[in-house]
Amino acid sequence: MSTALLAPPPGPPLGDVPLTDEDFGAIAAMVREHSGIVLSSSKRDLVYSRLRRRLRALHLTSFADYRARLVGAAGAEELVRMINAITTNLTGFFREPHHFDYLAQQMIPALPTGWQRLRIWSAGCSSGEEPYTIAMTLRRHLPDVDSKDVRILATDIDTDMVAHGAAGRYAMERAAAIPAELRQRFVRRVDGNTVEMDQALKELIAFKPLNLLGEWPMRGPFDAIFCRNVVIYFDKPTQRVLFDRYAEMLKPDGLLFIGHSESLFRVSDRFQHLGRTVHRRIK
Ligand SMILES: C[S@@+](CC[C@H](N)C(=O)[O-])C[C@H]1O[C@@H](n2cnc3c(N)ncnc32)[C@H](O)[C@@H]1O
Repeated sequence: MSTALLAPPPGPPLGDVPLTDEDFGAIAAMVREHSGIVLSSSKRDLVYSRLRRRLRALHLTSFADYRARLVGAAGAEELVRMINAITTNLTGFFREPHHFDYLAQQMIPALPTGWQRLRIWSAGCSSGEEPYTIAMTLRRHLPDVDSKDVRILATDIDTDMVAHGAAGRYAMERAAAIPAELRQRFVRRVDGNTVEMDQALKELIAFKPLNLLGEWPMRGPFDAIFCRNVVIYFDKPTQRVLFDRYAEMLKPDGLLFIGHSESLFRVSDRFQHLGRTVHRRIK
């Protein structure tokens, strides 16, 4: 593809388009109401730089006009694009690797004899590296996985990220974090810069768009939920509701993995901390 095709669509220059306090307040309120993501005033530059691309794409010359585009039924599509632009999608293969060690060394060996069904949810999966890491861990440590009923549900509010995950294609340097043995087994080279995850991983994972604040269509119960580096963007009341819902979605002693800077302290008493941000449902 030529670089001309990748250039942003032509539009008015935006350096002189102010993001007023009113604009920022209104946009932050919409983002919070729809996604739970709290945008403090320290995020103002981030909001400006991410949304100016949307103004440019829509040929708009003010944030007031952009806000008008978000209103009512006609605004639903742009609201999705705005949320996609605002989310922070930082992720990686084998990020916080002790969680996958726990899966391999504690959770899998503890499965009851004759078990048949295993369900794991990657909630806030971003571009898919987390569920693919779970899938690689399962394939490596459960050689008979194909004779069982094993599924990974991978969800995110950001529809672009969900599509990325389902395609399973990544810049080659991102795959460097995958141990060599697993890279050889499960990562295919597409061209000089791109790799693709093997079908044996893709078939274990269902990628779906899902807002964690909305309705959850799945029934569960899950053996484990990974919700890592997602709730740092939410306020405590939102976290309380979410972790209560996770407890309901887990098996009675199901596992919850959260991010390294996240905590259930004063948020939920339904989990026992097993160490290193791994929790077991107890209520
Ligand atoms: C920093 S990424 C974390 C990715 C992965 N879990 C990890 O730890 O590497 C946070 C993800 O949470 C998603 N997210 C934020 N708010 C959400 C919501 N209300 N519902 C679902 N996903 C949400 C974002 O779109 C983003 O992809």
